[in-house]
Amino acid sequence: MKESSNPLSGSRIGMFGKGGSGKSTITVLLAKVLAKQGYDVCVLDADSTNVGLHQAFGVDEPPEPLVDYFGGMVFSGGAVTCPVDDPTLLADAEIAIEELPSRFVRRSREGVWLLAAGKMGGRGPGAGCDGPMAKIARDIRLHFKHEECVTLLDFKAGFEDSARGVLVGLDQAVVVVDPTSAAVQMAINMSELVERIQKGDLPATAHLEHPDLVAAARSLYSQARIQHVLVVLNRVEPNSSRHLIDQLAQRDLHPVAQIRLDPSISESWLMGERLETQQAQKEVQDLVIALEGRCQTTGHGVLEVPVHPAFTY
Ligand SMILES: Nc1ncnc2c1ncn2[C@@H]1O[C@H](COP(=O)(O)OP(=O)(O)O)[C@@H](O)[C@H]1O
Ligand SMILES: [Mg+2]
Repeated sequence: MKESSNPLSGSRIGMFGKGGSGKSTITVLLAKVLAKQGYDVCVLDADSTNVGLHQAFGVDEPPEPLVDYFGGMVFSGGAVTCPVDDPTLLADAEIAIEELPSRFVRRSREGVWLLAAGKMGGRGPGAGCDGPMAKIARDIRLHFKHEECVTLLDFKAGFEDSARGVLVGLDQAVVVVDPTSAAVQMAINMSELVERIQKGDLPATAHLEHPDLVAAARSLYSQARIQHVLVVLNRVEPNSSRHLIDQLAQRDLHPVAQIRLDPSISESWLMGERLETQQAQKEVQDLVIALEGRCQTTGHGVLEVPVHPAFTY
């Protein structure tokens, strides 16, 4: 595969945060900015509980769910298991986009490739849990035949996917913090979890009966390369920005970017329209700089990320 001079090419970046904090918004903004910078960008919708991401990319129909491509969920007799019960790797999860049947992928006007792990809605009563979607997000490796891409994974709200092990497959994690104490707490929890993984804490395996499964879970965690979380403030105004920065600083977390409250963003989501805000795209540029900077330091010790100043209008 061709080597790319773009530092984020080949990396997998996960978006986390509490419900409604702005994970999908920032995924869309980041994808567009990276595409504009010349990256090949794939976005995996890994949120089984929410719909509408394709609309924010200006795409008419969502892609068909990859859980069907991989043969369906274990709960309905399919091949895709839950990573908690079965930590082993999903088979054939390395995929060249060109070789994927076209119904599983969409392309936005700016050239971003959109894929979806799968949704729970419509799968019927007692359909199971969405662990299989988390496994797809954990294990899928997207690229092009002759090129690497950067993969952004837009996760479900809260901590569940992280507890299921999706962090072990990521190069970087972004936590979106909106002006709520719950969002701050989520950033603290995520950052502590990454620290523990880095220190070599083992995953919970008391429920696994077969020693091979325990070994598989441990092996995955031992290969984790994630080093830190990057915090992004969203929907902030000068006051809330200052409060959040102070609260996070008490836990030594320093936001790398801030997206301000912008009514045009909520309007786009309300109307199911393409997200097209120039201001927020400029603001998300700081996140790109932090991601690229962090990326270059991987394996060479973590550099301090500059403290982002509170907004002044
Ligand atoms: N910067 C912003 N300014 C104004 N409203 C925002 C902003 N970011 C997100 N929103 C609003 O918050 C809602 C939730 O954002 P979303 O990105 O869907 O969050 P998540 O993916 O974390 O659940 C959106 O529907 C939109 O109305
Ligand atoms: Mg979302």
